[in-house]
Amino acid sequence: MRFSTATSLLAFASAVLAQINIPGQAPLNPLEPLQHRLAYAGSTGMYVSWNTYTEIQNPTVYYGQNVWNLSNTATGTSITHPSSLTWNNHVKITGLQPDTQYYYIVSNTNCYNCSELAPYTFTTARTAGDHTPYTAAVVIDLGVMGPNGESVKSDYPKLTANDSNTMQSLARYVDGYDLLWHPGDIAYADTWLREYTDGYLNVTLAESAQTYESLLNQYYDELQPVTARKPYMVVPGNHESNCDEGGFTVGNTTYDLSLCVEGQRNFTDYRTRFRMPSDESGGVGNFWYSFDHGMVHYVSINTETDLGNGLIGEDDVNGPEDMDSGPFGSYPNEQIDWLEKDLSSVDRTKTPWVIVSGHRPWYGAGANVSGTICWNCKLAFEPLLLKYNVDMVFNGHIHIYERNAPIANGVPDPNELNNPSAPWYILNGLGGHYHGTSTYPELLPSYVRYIQNTTYGWSRLTFHNCTHLTHDFISSSNGSVLDSATLFKDRQCAATVSSNSTGNSTSSSGDVNAAGVMRVSSALLITVSVIAVLSLM
Ligand SMILES: *[C@@H]1O[C@H](CO)[C@@H](O)[C@H](O)[C@H]1NC(C)=O
Ligand SMILES: *[C@@H]1O[C@H](CO)[C@@H](O)[C@H](O)[C@H]1NC(C)=O
Ligand SMILES: *[C@@H]1O[C@H](CO)[C@@H](O)[C@H](O)[C@H]1NC(C)=O
Ligand SMILES: *[C@@H]1O[C@H](CO)[C@@H](O)[C@H](O)[C@H]1NC(C)=O
Ligand SMILES: *[C@@H]1O[C@H](CO)[C@@H](O)[C@H](O)[C@H]1NC(C)=O
Ligand SMILES: *[C@@H]1O[C@H](CO)[C@@H](O)[C@H](O)[C@H]1NC(C)=O
Ligand SMILES: *[C@@H]1O[C@H](CO)[C@@H](O)[C@H](O)[C@H]1NC(C)=O
Ligand SMILES: *[C@@H]1O[C@H](CO)[C@@H](O)[C@H](O)[C@H]1NC(C)=O
Ligand SMILES: *[C@@H]1O[C@H](CO)[C@@H](O)[C@H](O)[C@H]1NC(C)=O
Ligand SMILES: *[C@@H]1O[C@H](CO)[C@@H](O)[C@H](O)[C@H]1NC(C)=O
Ligand SMILES: *[C@@H]1O[C@H](CO)[C@@H](O)[C@H](O)[C@H]1NC(C)=O
Ligand SMILES: *[C@@H]1O[C@H](CO)[C@@H](O)[C@H](O)[C@H]1NC(C)=O
Ligand SMILES: [Fe+2]
Repeated sequence: MRFSTATSLLAFASAVLAQINIPGQAPLNPLEPLQHRLAYAGSTGMYVSWNTYTEIQNPTVYYGQNVWNLSNTATGTSITHPSSLTWNNHVKITGLQPDTQYYYIVSNTNCYNCSELAPYTFTTARTAGDHTPYTAAVVIDLGVMGPNGESVKSDYPKLTANDSNTMQSLARYVDGYDLLWHPGDIAYADTWLREYTDGYLNVTLAESAQTYESLLNQYYDELQPVTARKPYMVVPGNHESNCDEGGFTVGNTTYDLSLCVEGQRNFTDYRTRFRMPSDESGGVGNFWYSFDHGMVHYVSINTETDLGNGLIGEDDVNGPEDMDSGPFGSYPNEQIDWLEKDLSSVDRTKTPWVIVSGHRPWYGAGANVSGTICWNCKLAFEPLLLKYNVDMVFNGHIHIYERNAPIANGVPDPNELNNPSAPWYILNGLGGHYHGTSTYPELLPSYVRYIQNTTYGWSRLTFHNCTHLTHDFISSSNGSVLDSATLFKDRQCAATVSSNSTGNSTSSSGDVNAAGVMRVSSALLITVSVIAVLSLM
């Protein structure tokens, strides 16, 4: 591209500035790749997904270990659903090396039109049996941030002008963890209805589908600085299958499922937007699956539907909440059968740590008092988690942070964190969203060790080795560790060889992006400097 006159340079610069994306709004170029999201596909694969405001023919990822040479390609599909505003492009890359960093860009990456500079990087999972220490992040119950979500408009606790919200905190520390696991309640797009009845969103009821989808897009745009760089492993929560906030009445008007088009129900957007490694682990869709990363076997379960053995999930067609979703298994006990098979086939010498996450809790002080404890989840899952010596269980749903004891059948393990036989329970529903936090009773269940509902935050898991695992609650507002505890398991670590003892797993950095700029196009450098000049004006 050449600029013959200062005028055309300025026109070009204005066009560039006009194309900087506003979260949730369509860019000028409908092909522009947005919302890049990664997910592990075994230790030699990676799912790369992104959204566009139009369908793409042969969505393609260009990747390579050298930022100057993205000559490898993989193609996938572009899919949508009837009330979606966007198309979801999904590409699965295979044949990668474990624990290795790759650079990537996707179809139509064109940094005249980019809100962020590409290429991005991803790092493949360590093979099971590689006991190199690492850190993982977990966030639950995280909604849209900003004026249409968690903000000064929303409930207590409010963030002050100088506080980071949880997305900003996750983005700030993105180089400090290998993956982000999100066990349910993603975006809270269904709160559009409450925001409408509260007078915060200036929309009409006829615009329900569009408003819902636009909040979803806003969320995935906002989280892109994290999801473009780190695998974002999602688990279903009730807000993925809901658009009427469970139904409610204001004045004489009742808001119920009659308001909801199919695209807002039955996990439709969630099913379309993600690709989780269920093919790799024998699971089903984005509903239940497992994956290994180094010394850890991660298991994602669905607490909303498909509880098996005749148990009714809260979101089931005849469930207590009016979600009318599922089932997703091809037969009623599929999830439970899968869970037993998955847990029984873990090689604990390779992955000594087994961690399970599901959205709804069956232990939790707040859940107990509000009557939202998922008793059927307890009946469905707890026996298997005990039988197979699961180390840790993550839940959310209640907007509180609770570090509980290791628990078996309601009884705290007498060993506490010093070599317990029961799973250690963490409930962290404090990602933050429009509805603020929850209350808990004065009389706490005997298993509660730490509880708070005043500070938003996320969980950081550090796997030191096969015997020690630390959980930290990170305050989103300032990054401080509000609560920390270490679990010890007395077991022998098999001698293991790092799958990649020559290289360190590295994450993306500013330098990487700077290098990427040069690779994509030298014209981009002009773009960047033009923006810099204009920002001085
Ligand atoms: C950027 O997007 C606009 C709007 O779709 C498009 O017309 C233009 O060709 C794109 N720029 C380049 C350099 O491709
Ligand atoms: C680029 O990468 C491909 C595949 O990894 C390789 O075959 C090719 O030789 C590389 N080209 C250069 C110039 O390094
Ligand atoms: C934010 O930080 C600035 C600069 O340190 C300070 O002047 C201001 O009082 C702070 N505002 C709040 C709400 O804490
Ligand atoms: C709400 O939106 C309508 C239509 O876009 C507009 O006419 C009206 O001024 C808006 N009201 C407020 C309070 O923003
Ligand atoms: C609700 O309906 C009742 C009876 O029809 C009417 O008296 C009342 O004004 C209505 N209230 C509102 C808020 O519309
Ligand atoms: C939800 O979607 C699944 C998968 O397509 C389907 O089998 C099931 O019948 C749907 N449930 C409802 C209530 O629509
Ligand atoms: C719920 O609270 C009651 C006391 O109010 C207690 O007996 C019971 O164990 C609690 N259940 C759970 C699952 O915490
Ligand atoms: C936090 O929990 C306490 C104790 O139950 C309660 O008094 C308070 O209202 C709760 N705060 C919020 C914002 O729910
Ligand atoms: C495992 O890690 C913990 C915490 O860093 C450390 O105290 C312990 O010595 C380590 N164990 C072995 C066998 O290295
Ligand atoms: C960080 O925030 C927490 C609450 O979120 C507060 O208790 C703590 O004092 C803050 N630390 C610093 C260093 O500001
Ligand atoms: C790996 O990390 C260690 C410590 O951070 C460093 O000394 C070493 O040079 C790194 N090795 C490679 C191959 O990057
Ligand atoms: C090990 O990691 C380095 C740096 O990420 C990478 O260049 C190398 O290809 C990896 N080797 C294997 C065998 O995975
Ligand atoms: Fe929830």
